[in-house]
Amino acid sequence: MKFSDVEQILGSLDKLPTLPVIYTKLLRLLQSPDSTIHAISNIIAEDQVIAAKVLQFVNSAFYGFPQRIGSLQRAIVILGFNAIKNLVLATSVWDLFQKVQAGHQFNKESFWKHSIGCAVASRVLAEAADLKSPEDVFTGGLLHDIGKIIQAGYFADQFNRVIDLVDQTGLPMVEAEKRVFGFDHAQIGTAVATRWRFPQETVNMIALHHLPNGTAGLNKTIAAVHIGNILAMALGLGYSGEKHVPFVHDKAWETLGLNLGSLELVMDKVVKLYKENISILESS
Ligand SMILES: [Fe+2]
Ligand SMILES: [Fe+2]
Repeated sequence: MKFSDVEQILGSLDKLPTLPVIYTKLLRLLQSPDSTIHAISNIIAEDQVIAAKVLQFVNSAFYGFPQRIGSLQRAIVILGFNAIKNLVLATSVWDLFQKVQAGHQFNKESFWKHSIGCAVASRVLAEAADLKSPEDVFTGGLLHDIGKIIQAGYFADQFNRVIDLVDQTGLPMVEAEKRVFGFDHAQIGTAVATRWRFPQETVNMIALHHLPNGTAGLNKTIAAVHIGNILAMALGLGYSGEKHVPFVHDKAWETLGLNLGSLELVMDKVVKLYKENISILESS
């Protein structure tokens, strides 16, 4: 299916959820010269749920600050604008995710755990490979399967059929989705991420995490999310709906540029960070 057709399907949906207004406001503010720390923390503080989640996140083992960070202003000073923007996006999507009513085949909790597993794994890989912004890769990893939320929330019957088909045939989900829907979760995820004006890099990680066109568009951040997704499955962190763990594309491995010897260390770190963070980031 053409991308414009997928966009049209998305546009025809009733009540497509919108991202919390604070993310949009924050993006606007960050682009203006008035983006002081004070102004930014005021905007985040408007949404108590998101503000609380951002602080929880900042104080998680993931950042490992020796002292508790008690205020948004301090969090912004320490982490910087970009990290805060990512955190607000991640928590906004988390908030949205709470509101999705999905069909019986979609286990929200294990799906969310898969998303966190992929986020953690992608970030650890990005750090190991010395990428510039592991923070952005974390967000991409967290949101990579956002299209499945749309499928499960808006097309519950078809999504149930996809899961049954995967179960019976062992097909990869994207293949089963194409048969049932005519499009896959990466395509509808790209459409929704574009509509919500996610940063282009995040859109690309969502669009290309299964390398739909082989190596076209492949870069280090996409390689990290591609491998992080597979690593999360291989390590049994949550459940994405796949029956079999897919293979890592060798060009993705080559692009990331890690040596095989470091993989064991990476895996240990992923499991440790996942365990330390899962309670903080859990959906309920
Ligand atoms: Fe996926
Ligand atoms: Fe996934």
